[in-house]
Amino acid sequence: MPNTPKIAVIGAGPSGITALKNLLDKGLHAIAFDRNIDVGGNWIFTENESHSSVFETTHIISSKTLSQYEDFTFDDFDPNTADYPSHDELRNYFQAYASQFNLYDHIRFGILVKKCEITEDGSWQIHLEKEGAESIENFTHLVVCNGHHWNPRWPSYPGTFEGEFLHSHSYKKAAPFKDKRVLVIGGGNSACDVAVETSRVSAFTAISWRRGYRIIPKFFFGQPSDKIGEKGSWIPLKVRSFFFDTLLKILVGDNKLYGLRKVETKFGEVHPTINDELLYKVRHGKVQPRLDIQKFEGKKVIFEDGLEEEYDAVIACTGYYLSHPFFDKKFIDYSSGPVPLYLKMFHPKIENLFFIGMFQPLGCIWPGAELQSKVMAREIAGEWKRPENISELCQKEARNPHYRQIDTPRHTITVDYHKFRKALLKLLPSDYVSKQPKTQEMHQ
Ligand SMILES: Cc1cc2nc3c(=O)[nH]c(=O)nc-3n(C[C@H](O)[C@H](O)[C@H](O)COP(=O)(O)OP(=O)(O)OC[C@H]3O[C@@H](n4cnc5c(N)ncnc54)[C@H](O)[C@@H]3O)c2cc1C
Ligand SMILES: NC(=O)c1ccc[n+]([C@@H]2O[C@H](COP(=O)([O-])OP(=O)(O)OC[C@H]3O[C@@H](n4cnc5c(N)ncnc54)[C@H](OP(=O)(O)O)[C@@H]3O)[C@@H](O)[C@H]2O)c1
Repeated sequence: MPNTPKIAVIGAGPSGITALKNLLDKGLHAIAFDRNIDVGGNWIFTENESHSSVFETTHIISSKTLSQYEDFTFDDFDPNTADYPSHDELRNYFQAYASQFNLYDHIRFGILVKKCEITEDGSWQIHLEKEGAESIENFTHLVVCNGHHWNPRWPSYPGTFEGEFLHSHSYKKAAPFKDKRVLVIGGGNSACDVAVETSRVSAFTAISWRRGYRIIPKFFFGQPSDKIGEKGSWIPLKVRSFFFDTLLKILVGDNKLYGLRKVETKFGEVHPTINDELLYKVRHGKVQPRLDIQKFEGKKVIFEDGLEEEYDAVIACTGYYLSHPFFDKKFIDYSSGPVPLYLKMFHPKIENLFFIGMFQPLGCIWPGAELQSKVMAREIAGEWKRPENISELCQKEARNPHYRQIDTPRHTITVDYHKFRKALLKLLPSDYVSKQPKTQEMHQ
């Protein structure tokens, strides 16, 4: 393999741009490839089918002070940014980050990375496609930042539904559901957002849950709820979860008060759902709670309690596969877990392969992706060496997740935002100064 690093980054979303920035900061030669035409990834909203899974009215669920890059805060971007910015504001923020650090010259847009293979000398051969024309390029290192919320995971039920059956990835706005009877499946953030939005225009909206979910408001005591959580980030996780749960019970109350399925898991055992409007809509009769689906019959949906109802549209908000179509599945396939990567970024055997942003925090992704990128850049620049027992650490991390979550497909890469950042910060020099965002001071 050549001595001088030449690094390929797949993706110019929030993770890809911080990977690229930090590699360039170390004077390394790096190029990012993105199949889209600009920076932003998931946050480039369009009404057409695309990589993005956001919809017309999406606002972030992690608040801005915990959702910013240290190197370019929301104050650096626009101090007037709302606590929970919209998809448009975020796209502008990511594009401003790319301009601020002169990344555009190092990104090639409109290019699909089709295949990545390791050659005999250990370097990477990358097959690219641009406007139908294929080419091959070689790189010493590969950095994967292709996102993990774009390949729909569909549910399947006995029978066939003869109305419109779509996945939340294809849901773009509420207008097409005007005056329709809509059933939303799922209890995650997509499902609750989609149910609330369609209920504004539909004739009838129901939401089907296969278990009970805690619905966490975006604000406690007039502050973003993740900021309240941050104040207790020094407390051991179990105790912290207990207190947060108690607070939720006092401020929100039990699900049964809302006619929703009972919560039977501990805090953190299920990825949290953050929504300020669902409970309001349920109590105003605009969103009707339903149990799990037993089967479809024409336009009829039969639920597990025997209830039968007709719907015009069923929207499956049932999550996404972890997907790396450019790898041979025999080489890497994390679509059904487990994901044994140290700090969710280092492969146990392949030292010139990195994953950035492929984790699901209880909080925001890109601040963690930024720290992962700094650690990666230091290693490639020869300033830091990974532990020798990396294989063991990968297995240990997979066996000891921050949260013991229930066994469902979405729970393979969960991390605690604060613990994860702490673990990454430990790998940075002791004199590393984390830029203190000004907005954080304002909120305290
Ligand atoms: C509706 C919705 C709301 C969300 N809200 C939040 C939130 O509030 N907070 C939060 O932290 N996270 C949220 N997420 C998660 C989301 O994944 C992250 O916000 C963020 O987009 C992750 O950045 P990324 O760069 O890792 O991936 P992405 O944003 O998905 O970017 C990946 C990039 O890779 C490119 N790409 C992929 N494959 C290829 C290929 N083969 N060749 C070339 N280019 C390729 C894509 O074009 C894209 O630009 C949300 C997700 C959804 C669906
Ligand atoms: N406003 C926002 O910022 C916003 C909006 C949407 C999404 N997001 C983020 O985007 C990511 C993806 O969220 P998501 O809500 O699309 O997916 P998700 O978190 O994976 O949730 C999927 C939901 O569907 C359920 N489900 C899956 N398969 C099912 C089946 N066969 N039958 C019934 N239910 C099924 C899951 O149940 P289990 O509980 O059993 O797993 C879960 O409730 C998350 O990180 C989320 O936070 C953010």
